[in-house]
Amino acid sequence: MPKLYDALAEWWPLLSAPFEYEVESKGWRRCLVDAGDEPAQTLLELGSGGGNNASYLKRDFELTLVDLSPGMLAHSRRLNPECAHHEGDMRSVRLGATFDRVFIHDAICYMATLEDLHRTLETAFLHLRPGGGMIVAPDFVRETFRPGTEHGGYDDGPRGLRYLEWTWDPDPSDHTYIADYAFLLREADGRVRVEHDRHVEGLFSRNEWRQVLGEAGFEARTVVMNLEDDVTLEVFSARRPDALPSW
Ligand SMILES: C[S@@+](CC[C@H](N)C(=O)[O-])C[C@H]1O[C@@H](n2cnc3c(N)ncnc32)[C@H](O)[C@@H]1O
Repeated sequence: MPKLYDALAEWWPLLSAPFEYEVESKGWRRCLVDAGDEPAQTLLELGSGGGNNASYLKRDFELTLVDLSPGMLAHSRRLNPECAHHEGDMRSVRLGATFDRVFIHDAICYMATLEDLHRTLETAFLHLRPGGGMIVAPDFVRETFRPGTEHGGYDDGPRGLRYLEWTWDPDPSDHTYIADYAFLLREADGRVRVEHDRHVEGLFSRNEWRQVLGEAGFEARTVVMNLEDDVTLEVFSARRPDALPSW
């Protein structure tokens, strides 16, 4: 597991704040409603992290949240005490319940092989009722990948975090790219330390996505989401077909 979700998980709220998700959460809500048949009331989020998206989506859906990291779940439980939380791996978790919708946001990037992607989509399929729908939102597909840098961070009194994220792809012929993070972590007494954290993330072509969604049993299409002015994201909207008639 990357340090960010493990030894450094306590710093998460200083890297990513709920208000950053307000605008895009309206787009997610629309896409989720359109992804399947009515009703769209219960929603399972796989890889829900600190629960920033959930803090907005819970206004419209009854939410169940799953994440692998106890530290990230602790943040989400504080932010979203009214939501059900489960510690689990999206490749294997089985809650014994079905939902109207499944959402897999940026956490899908941690599926770095076709096999892991397939296992996760199978989890999503098994947790959807017939006619239910899923939105899965990788940061990139192979065709849209661009190397780049981002930076940010926040203060909380004397404590503070600043980060640089450097995204690059050492081998365009394989199924992964790298996000290298440099964190500057300032403790309450003013001491600052530096941490490097490497995230290996999955990168699949549109055709590979279509194939693996089809193999998992979904009827899938691509949707272009407006994240903010001039920033769009290609995501997959996938419906679990109705049960086959019994004749
Ligand atoms: C970028 S964070 C998600 C942040 C989230 N979108 C939010 O609104 O706060 C990615 C999350 O994916 C989770 N994750 C990574 N691999 C996972 C797996 N196999 N199963 C479940 N969660 C996983 C990490 O623990 C981390 O919390």
